[in-house]
Amino acid sequence: MIIVIDGPAGSGKSSTARAVANRLSIEYLDSGALYRAVTLVYLEAGCEEEKFFSLLQKKDISFYYRDQLFHIAIDGSSVTDDIRTAAVAENVSEVAAMPDVRAFVNDLMRDVVKEGIYIAEGRDLGTAVFPDAELKFYMWADLDERAQRRFDERKDKNPDLTFEQVKESIAQRDQKDASREADPLKKADDAIEIDTTAMTFEQQVDEICWKVKQRIED
Ligand code: DC
Repeated sequence: MIIVIDGPAGSGKSSTARAVANRLSIEYLDSGALYRAVTLVYLEAGCEEEKFFSLLQKKDISFYYRDQLFHIAIDGSSVTDDIRTAAVAENVSEVAAMPDVRAFVNDLMRDVVKEGIYIAEGRDLGTAVFPDAELKFYMWADLDERAQRRFDERKDKNPDLTFEQVKESIAQRDQKDASREADPLKKADDAIEIDTTAMTFEQQVDEICWKVKQRIED
């Protein structure tokens, strides 16, 4: 069984999906983290496409969710922290726009969800990857609100960061993710839309848990 949440960066989908997974004791899958891990391979290949694809075929990418964290490893070495660097954030939209990369990541995801109940989050899960998902959500919020959330999350670790920088980076990523040709960010017709601009985190989690529970018990 698969439940999906799609939406733009900073919409609250990752933290909400994790909280729902914890509360309902189901599995969690972070598709953005997989694109980020593949981006590390792209950087390792010196951003040369041919070299990148041959390197990618040789890599073993493994992942699991535990203790509030989506753990991810390449050839057995953890890259859970490395996938959150600025270099990855700057290159991930370009890498995720490559159709062969999307096919590679989609295969990884479809393979793992064959057993168990999963809540997965990303950009195109309800439209392209799991069009038959049991339940689909599309979470979004105003750009200013999303930028504020990301800024609040990151300012302690990075004191030089400004709100305007975060807003600009999210706006650029939105634009790239929604305008690319291969499976752009898009709400599925049958997705339940949740505007989180004025919602508290608890309200988001409650709303999704309620709907998921109803579906699981159906
Ligand atoms: O959710 P995130 O910020 O970790 O995602 C990183 C990038 O991966 C994002 O800019 C777009 C891409 N992505 C995608 O193209 N399709 C998905 N299903 C998930 C993420």
